[in-house]
Formats: sequence, structure tokens, C-alpha cells
Amino acid sequence: MADALKIGIAGLGTVGASLVRIIQQRSNALAVACGRAITITAVSARNRNKDRGVDLSGIAWFDYPVDLAENADIDVFIELVGGADGAADQSVRAALARGVHVVTANKALLARHGVEFARLAEEKGLLINYEAAVAGGIPVIKAMRESLTGNNFSRVYGIMNGTCNYILTRMEKEGLSFEDCLKEAQRLGYAEADPTFDIEGNDTAHKLAILTTLAFGSEIAADDIYLEGISNISIEDINAAAELGYRIKLLGVAQRTESGIEQRVHPTMVPLDSVIAQVDGVTNAVALESDILGELLMVGPGAGGNATASAVLGDITDIAKSRPGAQQVPVLGRPAALLEPYRQAKMKSHEGGYFIRLSVVDRAGVFASIATKMAENGISLESIVQRSQHTTADAPVTIVLVTHATMENAVRKAVSAIKHEGYLIGEPQVIRIERPKSA
Ligand code: HSE
Repeated sequence: MADALKIGIAGLGTVGASLVRIIQQRSNALAVACGRAITITAVSARNRNKDRGVDLSGIAWFDYPVDLAENADIDVFIELVGGADGAADQSVRAALARGVHVVTANKALLARHGVEFARLAEEKGLLINYEAAVAGGIPVIKAMRESLTGNNFSRVYGIMNGTCNYILTRMEKEGLSFEDCLKEAQRLGYAEADPTFDIEGNDTAHKLAILTTLAFGSEIAADDIYLEGISNISIEDINAAAELGYRIKLLGVAQRTESGIEQRVHPTMVPLDSVIAQVDGVTNAVALESDILGELLMVGPGAGGNATASAVLGDITDIAKSRPGAQQVPVLGRPAALLEPYRQAKMKSHEGGYFIRLSVVDRAGVFASIATKMAENGISLESIVQRSQHTTADAPVTIVLVTHATMENAVRKAVSAIKHEGYLIGEPQVIRIERPKSA
């Protein structure tokens, strides 16, 4: 049997502790599968005295990830520290500089430094594996980086934030408030250290930026993503969507268009009878549309200690099985030197269906005025529904419109014209509709 693969794990939170436990419990099976043992030789975390429910005896301890990366006796550095900069960034650089392979679950780090890291790794013939960075336990990186090589992708989209999907699901099924659902997601260990990253879509954007690069061969452009989170979604939206045959999901979508690549993260109406609409709770789903394969939808656990640890473990075993001196899998699907500059499509040119919910004063001509503003902007309507509570004579009424495919710019102009008419109460709600190719 070949020499053991020596790994150092920086970060012993939920994922790190799960990883240590799994590697220790399954050491024999892993050695058989990889043809060599996998040995944890070093770990690093802030608090040495905390009980993590794992046996760390005989494993070198480092207080700082950079110290571990620079000094530990390791072949692979496992970065589970988190954050786009600081210790995560410095320790990955230190590991690569030393000629050590890297496994990371850190989407923020890759979204910011991925192209530079890929160049550094490829210069030295090193691997950077990051399956856990996108959609938790779903092997989407392997699928895109290896299995689907040669396919031309047209669209990649998915539910990539377990916290948001958990919140939307519980709001719909149990009528609970947004705040209560968020607290529960945090308690269960799904949320990021700062939950606004989940709620406002940044976490999904980081993941989407990585998938965009794998799909379209362009440099990572995480700052050029159109972003809307779910904090603005109400029970009224969820109920109105259901009545019209839709469910609201936070989707990340990357799409090739004539004017460039669209990258967007926003609450999205998906048809109730689509498979992605059935993806509930913390579960993630990623849909890949490509010319040779067609449509592929991968569904699985997207957050939590074991799901993420499973993906990290797969990355480690890939390195354990790789042959010394063999050509390595390019970090970002193609050699970093061959990545193309990102060409951003303008969001106002986005084409699709829209759900628009308006609260208006109940008086003659309002309905007709709304329909006119739509028509003046060339927007064709699939449906328009008016609902009145009839509590008092001047109670507001809700008008819900669903458009056929139209341009974002036309919707913005129509909504702005409606705002100027003086009959709107509160802000209009506009939610984009996304349909699976086969729907
Ligand atoms: N906070 C993330 C989520 C964890 O909720 O999906 C995995 O990236």
C-alpha cells in the first residue's frame, strides 16, 4: 500500500468536527477505497479546550491556520475557516506556496480569489478541490468540471442556499414568520456566521459565480451579479403564487444570452408542478442545461455538518487516489490561462415572465389604468386578478398580474408609470418567473 495521505484540517466547527469523526470511524474502508490510508496529522482552531466530541489525541495542534499551512507535516491543507480574506486567504496561499494540495468549502474565498489561486496551483501541478463550496453534498463541481467536459452549457440555475429554502418552505407550509424560521435555521447550523449573507443572496451569488465559470469558461465575476434576497417576501406573495400555480424559491441563475452572460440571484416563481418546486427545506438543487446531455437536475442535502463533510471527504479521497506526476484536473474546469474575460449581459435586457403584485385604492379606472400602462410598454399579460377584502368602502384591493415573456426594462418602465398615477398603496412587488426548459 502507498504511503498514507497526511491531511491538516484548519477549522473545527460543525463541518470540521464531522469530518474528523467520519475519517476516524471509517479509516479502514477509506484505506481500501483509496489504496492508501488517510491520516489527520494536524488541526487548527481557536479554542483548544472546547469539547467537540472527537478524539484529537496524537494530532498536532496549531492555534493559527497559517501556522498549520506553513509548518505542519501535511500533503493536503483542508480550509474550513471561512471568510473571503484574512486567515483563510493567507493559509491557502501558504499551502500552495509550499506545494501542498488544497481542499476548501469556502465559496466566498473562491469567488474572490479563485482565478488567482487556480493560476498558483496550476503552476505547481497542485489540486484545489472545492466540492463543498457549492450546494453542500451535491457533486455538482465534479459533474461540471469532469463528467460534462465537452458540453456547451446554455443555463445553470438552482436552489443553492439551504437557509433560504428552509425559511420559504416553513413560511409556506406552517404560516410561520420569516424571523422565527430564520432563528430555527440558525439553531440547526445551516446559516452562515452572518445570516444576512444567506438572506440577501450573497451566499448564493458566491456559489453561482463559481458555477458560471465552470459553465461558460469565463473568469469569476462575483461582483457582477444582480442580487435580491428574500427578506422582502411575504406570506401574501407566497399565497398569491400558489393560487396562480407557482412556488417562490431563491434561485441563482447563470445564462448565456446574445449580449453576454446573465448572472442573477433573486426570489423566483417556479411552476408548482416542476421538480425544482418540490425541493423543500434545507435541500438544494442544481439544474444544468447543455447541448449534448440536455437537462440534468441534481437534488440533495445543501447545508449542515455531514452533507458538507461528505463533499470535503470526496475531495480528499480524489487526491488520495490521484497518481503522482499525472496531469491534474484544472481547478476551474479549464486551465486558468485559458479563461475568458467575463462579458456581462445587462439586467434590464433580461427576458422572462413576471409576477407583479400591487396594492391599490379601490376606485373606478384603476384596473383599466394598470392594464393600459402594461400595454403601452408592450407587455402582454397571461393573467390579471383583482381581489378585494370588502372590509370598508375605501379598503385597498390587491391586483396580481402575470406577464408573458417580456423585457425587464419594459416592466420597470410600466411599474414606474403606475407609481406616478397616485393610486398605489405601498411598494409594488415584482418577482421574476423561471421555467425549466422542459416545462
Ligand atoms: N449557509 C449556507 C446555506 C451553508 O444555508 O446553504 C452552505 O453553504
